[in-house]
Amino acid sequence: MSQQLTSEQLVEIADRFGTPLYVYHAEKIKEQYEKLTAAFEGCNARFFYACKALTNINILKYVKSIGCNVDCSSLNEVLLAVRAGFESNRILYTSNNVAFCEIEGAKEQGVHINIDSLSNLKKFGEKFSDTYPVGIRVRPNIMAGGNLKISTGHSKSKFGIPLENIDSVLQIVKDTNLRIRTLHIHTGSEIKDVEVFAKGIEVLFDIAKFFPHLEVIDLGGGFKVPYKPGEKGTDIQALGKKVAEEFNLFEKLYGKKVEVWFEPGKFIVSEAGYLITQVNVLKQSGETLFAGVNSGLNHLIRPMFYGSHHEIKNISNASGPEKEYTVVGNICETDTFAEDRMLNEVSEGDYLAFYNAGAYGIEMASHYNSRFKPQEILVIDGEAKLIRKKDVLEDLLMNQVEVL
Ligand code: LLP
Repeated sequence: MSQQLTSEQLVEIADRFGTPLYVYHAEKIKEQYEKLTAAFEGCNARFFYACKALTNINILKYVKSIGCNVDCSSLNEVLLAVRAGFESNRILYTSNNVAFCEIEGAKEQGVHINIDSLSNLKKFGEKFSDTYPVGIRVRPNIMAGGNLKISTGHSKSKFGIPLENIDSVLQIVKDTNLRIRTLHIHTGSEIKDVEVFAKGIEVLFDIAKFFPHLEVIDLGGGFKVPYKPGEKGTDIQALGKKVAEEFNLFEKLYGKKVEVWFEPGKFIVSEAGYLITQVNVLKQSGETLFAGVNSGLNHLIRPMFYGSHHEIKNISNASGPEKEYTVVGNICETDTFAEDRMLNEVSEGDYLAFYNAGAYGIEMASHYNSRFKPQEILVIDGEAKLIRKKDVLEDLLMNQVEVL
C-alpha cells in the first residue's frame, strides 16, 4: 500500500514545530526505491539517487541505509555523500561544464565519474591515461522531459558531448589511452514515455562498439511521478521489461554483459515530501480570492519557474465546502503557487499543505527578501524528527564581512 502522511499527522507536526516547514516521510522513500529494484529485477541494474533533488544529510544517510547509491552533480555533493558514509564505489559524479579541478577533486575521492565535455575528457586522459576508467556523458539529441527547462538531451542542450563529436572522443581515447567504462545519457526530467528511454538505449548501443572497455550503460534519471490526481508516472514495469530485452540482445550481439545504471531524483523523494504553510491573509480582489501564505518562491520555486503543478490541500479543514482560491506567497514578486484552485474553505491561520514537494523544494530555496528557509522534519518509524532548525538573523549575515 502506498505510504502517505495523513492530514491529521501533518497538522500535528505543524502545530508542534511551527510553519513553514518541509516534512519528509522516510518509509515512502524506501517504498519508491523498492518499486525500482522490483521493476528492474534481473536487469543487472544499479540505482544512484540524484541527490540534487534533496541533500539533507539525514536523507542521504537514510538513502544509504536502504541500499541505494548516490549520484552527485558537484564536488560538494560528493563530499556530502562521503560525509553521509557512502563508500566511494557507491558514489557517482555527473557534473556539467565544471572546471577540471572539480573533476580531479572527485577522482581523489575515488568515485565513479562521468565527463561531459571534450576538453575535460582530454585533460583527464592526458593526466590519468588508463589508470582511472571513466564514463562519458553523451548528448543523444533526443527531445524529452516535462518542459524545455528540464530537457537536457536535445540538440541545442548544453549538457553532454554531442553525439556528432564521437569521432573526437575516439581520437582522445586513442591519443591518451583512456578507458571509457560508462556511456551515460540523461535526456530530461519527468519523462513519461518509455520509448524515450528506448531511443536512448538505441543511441548508446549504436556507439558501444567503439568502446572495448565498456561495462556500464547509464540511462540517467528522469522518471516521471504523478503530480496531478489521476496523472500517470513512467511505467517502470514496462521499462524494466524493455531494458531486460534490450540488454539481453546486447549480450548476444557483443558477447558481454553490461550493467544498467539509473539516477532517479524525483522518483525517490518527490512524493515523500510536503511543504506545510499557513495562511497569513485572505484578500478578495474582484473575482479573485487570494490566499496569501507564509511562504513563496523563496521556498518552493517550481510553480513559478517551471509552471509546475503541486496539489494543495487545506489540511486544517479537510471536509468543509470547497471554494476557488489563488494561492500566493509573501515575496515581493508575483509568486503564484496556484491560480483558481478549489480548496476546502480557507480561514486565515489555516495550514495549506503542498504535495510532491520532496524533490527540488528546499534544495532550490533561498533567503530572498531576507526571509528564513523552512525547517525540515523527517518522519521515520512514526516519529517526527527535526532535521533542519529554524534560521536566525545571524544566518542571513553568514559569511558577510562587515567592513563598514
Ligand atoms: N541525472 C542527471 C545527470 C541529472 O541532471 C538529473 C536532474 C537527474 C539525474 C535526476 O533527474 P530526476 O530523476 O530528478 O528527474 N529542478 C527541476 C529538475 C531539474 C533536474 C536536473 N537534473 C524540477 O524541479 O523539475
